[in-house]
Amino acid sequence: MDDFIAALPKAELHLHIEGTLEPELAFQLADKNQVSLPFATVAEMRAAYDFQDLQSFLDLYYASISVVCTEEDFHDLTLAYLKKADSQNVRHTEIFFDPQSHTARDIPMETVLNGITSALKQGERELGISSRLILCFLRHLSADSAWETLQQALPFREQFIGVGLDSSEVGHPPSKFVKVFEEARRNGLHIVCHAGEEGPPEYITEALDLLHAERIDHGVHCMEDPALVERLAVEQIPLTVCPLSNVRLCVYPDMSQHPIKRMLEAGLRVTVNSDDPPYFGGYVNENFTAVQQALDLSRQELIQLARNSFTSAFLTDAEQQKLLAELPEEID
Ligand code: ADE
Ligand code: ZN
Repeated sequence: MDDFIAALPKAELHLHIEGTLEPELAFQLADKNQVSLPFATVAEMRAAYDFQDLQSFLDLYYASISVVCTEEDFHDLTLAYLKKADSQNVRHTEIFFDPQSHTARDIPMETVLNGITSALKQGERELGISSRLILCFLRHLSADSAWETLQQALPFREQFIGVGLDSSEVGHPPSKFVKVFEEARRNGLHIVCHAGEEGPPEYITEALDLLHAERIDHGVHCMEDPALVERLAVEQIPLTVCPLSNVRLCVYPDMSQHPIKRMLEAGLRVTVNSDDPPYFGGYVNENFTAVQQALDLSRQELIQLARNSFTSAFLTDAEQQKLLAELPEEID
């Protein structure tokens, strides 16, 4: 089954570029930029990837990104991810970035965007992997800060296709950000939103009704609300699920408790993604393998997950059809 997963063409729709920083690159950049890391060795850094909840992860994630400073650093970080994704047969990827974690360190928006964008173009050119960029607002910061961030980014509007909402979920509902998402929509941007990762099903409903989210990132807590599951199934709202992340952040005690199979059986448009791969122990194929093994997913279900990843992407019908044509035949 591992070979089948490895060969399956797929899209990745939930990936934080800051969360792809491997410890080896972190130490290289720390040395180059003369920024200190709170670890003496790569092994020590990896050993710290032992989280109790989302916040304990975010604390380390924000501390670690301090080593990424220049346009070249953002380029190298992004290209390293694209090479890894290509090696796992990811044909298309939609990548999140968190500008506020950089502008707060006096790194200009333009530096961040140009570094990431030049790598995306190189990935498309040299690896044949297509990609799009989605700007995420940090929800633990104020709505005013999100507004200011969007204004800083709009001069570079052609470099990103959408906006999202990430960081500490509980206590920071989508309703806090109605105005900035309205402004994003007015500028023709796609809307996604982390909701129902640690937060309640109500946050998913708010993301849909108040922010007009087209995709929900995570969304696993919808399973506590049958009426919401019914709505998500009828409306075929894509849910970008990240199984290894959910287990590593203790949303579920182990993979056998993960609801992804039940979500598929409920007719939800579920996709499999890696979120922040080095922190959670795997890229997209490791996520597929972990759920397949723990929940005994069939080949049919794996193909359905890959198909969902293409039909949920912010691509034209023709672009989706081209990717869908690469999928293996249905087998019973
Ligand atoms: N930022 C990076 N990973 C995240 C996650 N899993 N949830 C919320 N914010 C994040
Ligand atoms: Zn995420």
